[in-house]
Amino acid sequence: MSNPQIKPQRICCIGAGYVGGPTMAVIAQKCPDIRVTVVDIDEQRIAAWNSDELPVYERGLDAVLETTRGKNLFFSTDVDAGIVAADIIFISVNTPTKTYGEGAGKAADLKFVELCARKIALISTGNKIIVEKSTIPVRTAEMIKRIMRENCSENVVQVLSNPEFLAEGSAIQDLHYPDRILIGGEETESGRQAVDTLASVYESWVPSEKIIKTNLWSSELSKLAANAFLAQRISSINALSALCEVTQANIDEVAQAIGRDRRIGPKFLKASVGFGGSCFQKDVLNLVYLCEHFGLPEVAAYWEQVIKMNDYQKRRFTKNLVKTLFNTVSGKKIAILGFAFKSGTNDTRETPAIQVCSDLLEEQGLVSVYDPGVKREQIESELNLVNANSNNLVAEDDPYSACAGSHAVVILTEWQEFKNLDYQRIFSLMEKPAFFFDGRNLLDFDAMRRIGFQIRGIGRV
Ligand code: UDX
Ligand code: UDX
Repeated sequence: MSNPQIKPQRICCIGAGYVGGPTMAVIAQKCPDIRVTVVDIDEQRIAAWNSDELPVYERGLDAVLETTRGKNLFFSTDVDAGIVAADIIFISVNTPTKTYGEGAGKAADLKFVELCARKIALISTGNKIIVEKSTIPVRTAEMIKRIMRENCSENVVQVLSNPEFLAEGSAIQDLHYPDRILIGGEETESGRQAVDTLASVYESWVPSEKIIKTNLWSSELSKLAANAFLAQRISSINALSALCEVTQANIDEVAQAIGRDRRIGPKFLKASVGFGGSCFQKDVLNLVYLCEHFGLPEVAAYWEQVIKMNDYQKRRFTKNLVKTLFNTVSGKKIAILGFAFKSGTNDTRETPAIQVCSDLLEEQGLVSVYDPGVKREQIESELNLVNANSNNLVAEDDPYSACAGSHAVVILTEWQEFKNLDYQRIFSLMEKPAFFFDGRNLLDFDAMRRIGFQIRGIGRV
């Protein structure tokens, strides 16, 4: 391969999702000399990116777009033109868990990544660096390289792995101040040059000591490993929360006590109704599949337990609720505060709220949902997908309407604004006893009890 330009001028990102959109917006903001184009096959999504109603809700994203969109940041459905013009092409399309055939329910479905690779091979000319941004199984770069080798007239393409570690709800902050940037490349002269070229983009705002350069496979695996470790911490604390409930220990106190050990650290120890989001479950299952594939059943079983514990935690929450409401919620209104998988985002993928609401509907409860960041239609369509019993479901625009006449109020997302609701008013609107289930241990339980609520949390009495 001839020398790639050290200073790239044009970047294209395929996939204008929760990852591709914000990441490219920040690259455009920090590198005004680079022209960044984000392309997507979804016309509606691109139209939304070009409007004032962005498809992704992230604090600070609108300010970044204000200074970049139409200047050096463009959103387009013209995938081919974006690819042809670019020096660096990021692949940031979705890699959902496979739902069919070999590996169904565990393996990552790479069909979109492969389609992107084939398209790039078909139409691109000249030097290109292809960057895997999507989280993918280890050795996916091999597949991309092979498609390039066998379809391109010249061997001018380098493939890099550059996983994204941003968390939703804090995406812009995470992109501005990343803990690290990880770039994996081939251990050849041209591979190292490509890594340096991509590193030069990030060096516009990230100190170079935070940029980690590894081989391709370490980089691919590190992303799965990071998510598996994070998910494992939540399953560990949630496993202990069940033990707390039967021993009178308080999980928040236990978390504080163990988190003070600097080797453990205080973050990611918040017991909850369960983790959600598009990544944790998908990536842990992907890791499980890889271990099975490579003949490591014990390692696979170890990581699979993280998912089993999360499923147990979600189900346990609803079971406790039904039991507390005198063993039936049939015909009773249950108010759900929070539907997003975490606060600060409108994302509802794999949110624990889907499982909880669906179980309550199954028990013939009348479920009324309010979320300050998620549109009513989105809540209703998510639940209609998993539960046809939708006559018993309503999404509200106002928390007080959601709670009026309910037998129980349930917090499922840790939106800070839930701390400031008028609980005296909510209490007066409810049936008595007024049951309250705080799935995030968000509220002041003593204050709630003084109002008259029968409140329960996670891993504490
Ligand atoms: C995705 C992956 O799911 C995740 O594993 C990875 O780490 C980053 O990319 P996200 O951005 O949250 O995460 O996905 P999503 O919001 O679904 O966006 C993907 C976009 O790719 C969609 O807008 C989809 O229309 C687009 N796409 C998909 C294409 O443009 N072309 C395709 O062939 C397939
Ligand atoms: C995660 C990783 O943090 C990020 O690095 C990766 O790039 C994508 O996956 P994300 O899913 O956006 O990010 O959010 P995260 O903050 O990790 O939360 C995931 C889930 O775990 C949420 O449902 C959250 O509520 C839950 N959680 C998190 C807990 O229940 N307790 C905690 O202590 C932390």
